[in-house]
Amino acid sequence: MSTLVIVGAQWGDEAKGKLVDWLGGEADYVVRYSGGNNAGHTVIVGDKTFKFHLLPAGILHPSCISILGAGMVICPKGLLEELDKTRQLQADLGTLKIHPASHVVFPYHRTQDRLEEDQRGENKIGTTSRGIGPAYTDKVSRNGIRMAEFIDPDRLRARLGEVVGQKNAYFAQLGSESADAEAIFAEYAPLADRIRPFVMDTDWELQEAVRSGKKVLFEGAQGTFLDLDYGTYPFVTSSHPIAAGAALGTGIGPRDLHSILGVCKAYSTRVGSGPFPTELAGELGDQIREQGQEYGTTTGRGRRCGWLDLVALRHSARLNSMTGLVITRLDVVAGLGPLKVATGYQLRGQAIQHVPSDGQELAAVEPVLQELEGWTEDLRGVRRWEDLPSAVKRYVEFIEEFCDCPAAVLSVGPDRAETILRRPDLIWI
Ligand code: IMP
Repeated sequence: MSTLVIVGAQWGDEAKGKLVDWLGGEADYVVRYSGGNNAGHTVIVGDKTFKFHLLPAGILHPSCISILGAGMVICPKGLLEELDKTRQLQADLGTLKIHPASHVVFPYHRTQDRLEEDQRGENKIGTTSRGIGPAYTDKVSRNGIRMAEFIDPDRLRARLGEVVGQKNAYFAQLGSESADAEAIFAEYAPLADRIRPFVMDTDWELQEAVRSGKKVLFEGAQGTFLDLDYGTYPFVTSSHPIAAGAALGTGIGPRDLHSILGVCKAYSTRVGSGPFPTELAGELGDQIREQGQEYGTTTGRGRRCGWLDLVALRHSARLNSMTGLVITRLDVVAGLGPLKVATGYQLRGQAIQHVPSDGQELAAVEPVLQELEGWTEDLRGVRRWEDLPSAVKRYVEFIEEFCDCPAAVLSVGPDRAETILRRPDLIWI
């Protein structure tokens, strides 16, 4: 058994990047399966801080092959900028391959993202403005431009001609200026020249890798409750961050997803609009934001902060078939006093144990909070489960029991080294 999915168990930003980087050293392949440069992963190695939006964190390991899967939407400019920046910080990178069926994000997608958000007014989603939703919309309506077309100048020019014509008709209705297909071609054809060497079929190679027992790590982006179908619709992203997305977005069959680790923080955060039952709107929320430096890697926006929602986390464990949990940022909540966790919801005076799939119902629930003992100790130097303060152990055990899922890894600081491997047997099962 050789595959491992790292999935965001909450609303994204759970510090998946650190984990992927940490485990990526052992992986033969690291594969991204959904989203685009709306994602933001920070990886700290010694005195260097890497910020990834598109590149799999496995790129930092020279012997690892990183793949951008078919389920992704890729901004060529963002990708090349990121590659150049990463190379400046570390000369020796792993191999990069891009699936020809992945879709390309163009400037008109970003224009559309902005215009549609303006149209939504008070109901705006709070997107990352990276054109992600419009790029996926084009994919589903079969107007998207795939990587295979992007790297062929004749096909690119022809497809841009068709698509930009349609976009301009739409933009005119919204009162916006039109896009210029030839100008986009002139700007993007040189970018396609640089990207062409990375684009190749990877389905067979990955399937063979799995069959021969190579270690393949699937790197999730965003989080479970931002999933297009299972998240808090419409306040979601336009792809499938859940573990099932790893099969959809990479050409691997579902029975080839072996170990599935769900990453969650010791508390909750969300960026953008949408229901968030355990949100702390006051001082305590501000304190968590400051202690955890909860500001978006992609947009710099302050994240909304709240208590850990175990009702949601248990649902996430089931939705993702999690084989283990990774609990991060345990260091951040030190000194907050007693910690609260949601163990149930009240909906219109009735106790419920599940997460309502209708966003309006979820927005109406009141969390039932249980208080657990907090801790004041600085955890960043701790490397073994046995050395953790007993309040931390009890907090972790409470989560495991409630979610019926073992905690495989604990993170006690942002650095690669600040990690406790509690259950090595659960990593590559
Ligand atoms: P979009 O993916 O840019 O369309 O944004 C849709 C929603 O997903 C917004 O609420 C964003 O804030 C949220 N979102 C997208 N990517 C991330 C991420 O990587 N972390 C956290 N939230 C995200």
